[in-house]
Amino acid sequence: MIDRLAIFGATGDLSARYLLPGLAALRAAGHLGDGFQLTCADLASWDDERFRGWAATQLDRHGTAWPVDAREAIIASARYRRADITDPADVASVIAGAGPVAVYLALPPALFPVAVQALHQAGLPPGSRIVLEKPFGEDLDSAVELNRLLAALVPEEAVFRVDHFLAMSTVQNVLGSRLANRVLEPIWNSTHIAEVEIVWDETLTLEGRASYYDGVGALKDMVQNHLLQLLCLVAMEPPISLGERDLRDRKLDVLQSVRPLTGDDVLRRTRRARYLPGRIGDRDVPAYVDEEGVDPGRRTETFAEIELQLDCWRWSGTTFRLRSGKALGADRKEVAVRFRPVPYVPFGHGGEALPNVLRFGLDPECMTLDLTGIGSHTRTFVPLALTARMEPPDLPAYGRLLLDVLNGDPTLSIRGDEAEEAWRILAPVLSAWSGDLVPLEEYPAGSDGPAPRQPYGADPA
Ligand code: BG6
Repeated sequence: MIDRLAIFGATGDLSARYLLPGLAALRAAGHLGDGFQLTCADLASWDDERFRGWAATQLDRHGTAWPVDAREAIIASARYRRADITDPADVASVIAGAGPVAVYLALPPALFPVAVQALHQAGLPPGSRIVLEKPFGEDLDSAVELNRLLAALVPEEAVFRVDHFLAMSTVQNVLGSRLANRVLEPIWNSTHIAEVEIVWDETLTLEGRASYYDGVGALKDMVQNHLLQLLCLVAMEPPISLGERDLRDRKLDVLQSVRPLTGDDVLRRTRRARYLPGRIGDRDVPAYVDEEGVDPGRRTETFAEIELQLDCWRWSGTTFRLRSGKALGADRKEVAVRFRPVPYVPFGHGGEALPNVLRFGLDPECMTLDLTGIGSHTRTFVPLALTARMEPPDLPAYGRLLLDVLNGDPTLSIRGDEAEEAWRILAPVLSAWSGDLVPLEEYPAGSDGPAPRQPYGADPA
């Protein structure tokens, strides 16, 4: 296990919300000892004391109730260095020390190439690891270039392109449920499954993240990474083992099987929208374009939806719908596997049997199977739901990811070829959206998203 972690961008939102709480959770669970060294670097001219005070406030704001000594130990282990990631001398002073170091780039994606070059010039100790947040690159070409720079710095197994969804226990449970149960895998194919919806609808709005989000938008923030990774777990062939190579090879197969979207597909099968003013619960929410730091001219979407088909034996004929939006009226975060209707029912004249739906609830974590029953007196169909709540995970997602980084286990991180393949899938969408070929729709904050669309080509009258 590496016992040195250096975080660049350490005073940012990611560090406050996820990295510091993740480290405190690791300490509380006994994974980090007294020898753990944490160097936090950013542009602000702070000293150790100022950083530790800030870290304590963030842990109180974003944390759960850790034992006081775990919280104190993480704060005390942090040293702060003012450093410019583009300056190799600054970078060298942050990573200086005995033995390998794990370097976490909690930075805007546009800085990754220059950061990787600066690390190269600074001289990363042998055995070191590097951690990047999504999106990995900004399109296919920049992802290829970033992978080339990374390959010159460290071996692929030392690159952690983290996707914290993969560290969520329910997300792993999608694959676990398929493979550990006799009843699912025989019907896990297009003969039985009509549609899979992978949905991350949030009531959360921009939450002060314009400097990151306005340059990215929903497609690159959620679909390119989190939702395509979920697609992989739902659709992959059973791997021989859960070792990093077997698992990531099978995920890559899924991405490679996604049918390339034609120009016509992009018009019919993708949607983008952004939110207008509205009310979510008891909060008044301004329009996205009026949020602080947003440049309306960028036409950034806060809602994205795409429909994909897979060209392979198992899935030919099943539709995969991926969707995510911010500032919606209700949280809906789930993978919903919708089965085809039964071929014939000899009773129950009160309507049609509802198709079965298996739902993996991602937040809160649960599983639900929607079934159809028969009302005993009326002989009509009644909906039934079997629900199982999941045990809370032993570690939060970022705790799990950080532990894997320190232990050198890249199984739950994204391999370079997967990242490139994900960009290949989205390339026609990015090009059509940036050329304004697909309308940027609008929806009131607090609503269900943009209104249902007219069928493509239908006369609007
Ligand atoms: C992040 C996205 O990766 O995931 C956010 O950048 C999104 O926009 C978030 O809100 C959702 O995950 P979580 O775990 O923070 O609810």
